Amino acid sequence: MKTLKLFLSTAVLGTLAMGCTQEAEKPSEPKTLRQAYQDAFYIGTALNRFQIEESDSVMAEIVGKEFSSITAENMMKSMHIHPKRDTFNFEMADKFVALGEKYDMFVHGHTLVWHSQLSPWFGTIEDSLEFADATEKHIKDIASKYKGKIDSWDVVNEALNEDGSLRNSIFLQKMGEDYLASAFKWAAEADNGADLYYNDYNMTNPEKRQGAIAMVKNILDQGVKVDGIGMQGHWHLNSPSLEEIEQSILDYSALGVKVAITELDVSVLPNPWDLEGAEISQNFENSEGMNPYKDGLPDSIQVKLANRYKDIFSLFLKHKDKISRVTFWGVSDGQSWLNGFPIRGRTNYPLLFDRDLKPKAAYDSIMALKERFDEQQLAN
Ligand code: G3I
Repeated sequence: MKTLKLFLSTAVLGTLAMGCTQEAEKPSEPKTLRQAYQDAFYIGTALNRFQIEESDSVMAEIVGKEFSSITAENMMKSMHIHPKRDTFNFEMADKFVALGEKYDMFVHGHTLVWHSQLSPWFGTIEDSLEFADATEKHIKDIASKYKGKIDSWDVVNEALNEDGSLRNSIFLQKMGEDYLASAFKWAAEADNGADLYYNDYNMTNPEKRQGAIAMVKNILDQGVKVDGIGMQGHWHLNSPSLEEIEQSILDYSALGVKVAITELDVSVLPNPWDLEGAEISQNFENSEGMNPYKDGLPDSIQVKLANRYKDIFSLFLKHKDKISRVTFWGVSDGQSWLNGFPIRGRTNYPLLFDRDLKPKAAYDSIMALKERFDEQQLAN
């Protein structure tokens, strides 16, 4: 649990405390991502079961030192945490929260209401009122158990279609569109101190963006608390454009809510959906063309990835007053879900640490960017 965001970097604090001594004139080198970005926004990562249990000491050290926020990649989804209607399994979630406390991190809960990885018992409830009661209990039991320990929640995840209309999920079918405001209301009743987010992917797509804005505005207009919008950053080397990302940050922020960049990873592999007329089929599974870097990432692509991260982090820094948190969807390339999506068995390189847990050029690029940013701030 983290209650206070540090707005002054250690370097600046040090300078103020020491006055104008020779040492104070030299800002100390940022050593980790967490330290470098502590005055901008939380830098988070998603953790799998092994990382939560700190099974690998090198990985554990990276997590503890490099990140100031954590999200459980899967372990707080309903199928894991609430496997039967009358049975919760809090074991991994408890360990996850304890890890956040150990490293004094901002702990994010993912996710209370999501149609996917949904515990099967939801689907067995026929009656609409009973379904709504069960959903309320699900939200309240979990959010109140972690009251004061989870700093923010993805209350509703991925409720929108690409055209901005509401996804025809089991929640919409059973409860109508009121389920959205109800979910946020119930979460706030359980833990009013946690920041409550709506989280979705392709949030830079203009149609979906308009749908998200209308949806969140509708909830806010009912007097129900929504604190933030999570833009999942499952992005590519060339898309979405920086203009689309920036416009989205501005548009969401104009609602008066925080913006979090959640689930950030940049795929370097070809996207079969970009191919005109292409259909996802088994044919792609063994296609060499769809898995071009299985023996290693060429330097030219490593540089492109580093530049892409530099560009998007420049935007994040430009709008740091609007951004609460930037969370990577994993620590190292080897753990990324993108090795299995949208085609299974590929070798992708979307994160900041490589398969040997060494920092990549992308890591260096956003560290160097922040150093330059700080120098400019000091110069102004
Ligand atoms: O735990 C089992 C393991 O026992 C089994 O051996 C293995 C065999 O495939 O499967 C394991 O479960 C997988 C689980 O990830 C843990 O690795 C599931 O099959 C797999 O479906 C699941 O995928 C997760 C996916 O959500 C499910 O929708 C990804 O890890 C996770 O990164 C991904 O995260 C989502 C966000 O929650 C919401 N936004 C999109 C994002 C990417 O899809």
